[in-house]
Amino acid sequence: THVVTESCIACRYTDCVDVCPVDCFRQGPNFLAIDPDECIDCAVCVAECPVNAIFAEEDVPSDQQKFIKLNVELARGWPSITKTIPALDEAEQFKDVKEKLHLLVR
Ligand code: F3S
Repeated sequence: THVVTESCIACRYTDCVDVCPVDCFRQGPNFLAIDPDECIDCAVCVAECPVNAIFAEEDVPSDQQKFIKLNVELARGWPSITKTIPALDEAEQFKDVKEKLHLLVR
């Protein structure tokens, strides 16, 4: 599977969603998660994310490992998103912020 990591939090650009052939993205208040049961590892979303938040599971950086489980957990409770929507109002402000896990709204 592929995994959405910390850079997405409080930005949620959603460019990734439009290119997904299997609609595996799930929408939370300020983050998207990938449903690992749907993702086919095509990797087309990786290059679409303006903040490089998406990685193949085996390439998730060591400081982002917790996001592997977090995507599984969050995807379970969130609705599907299949079309790109506007980024969050605070996206510009948070796009270069590294530590954002405390901002995640479930
Ligand atoms: Fe998030 Fe990047 Fe998609 S910011 S919503 S993973 S395009």
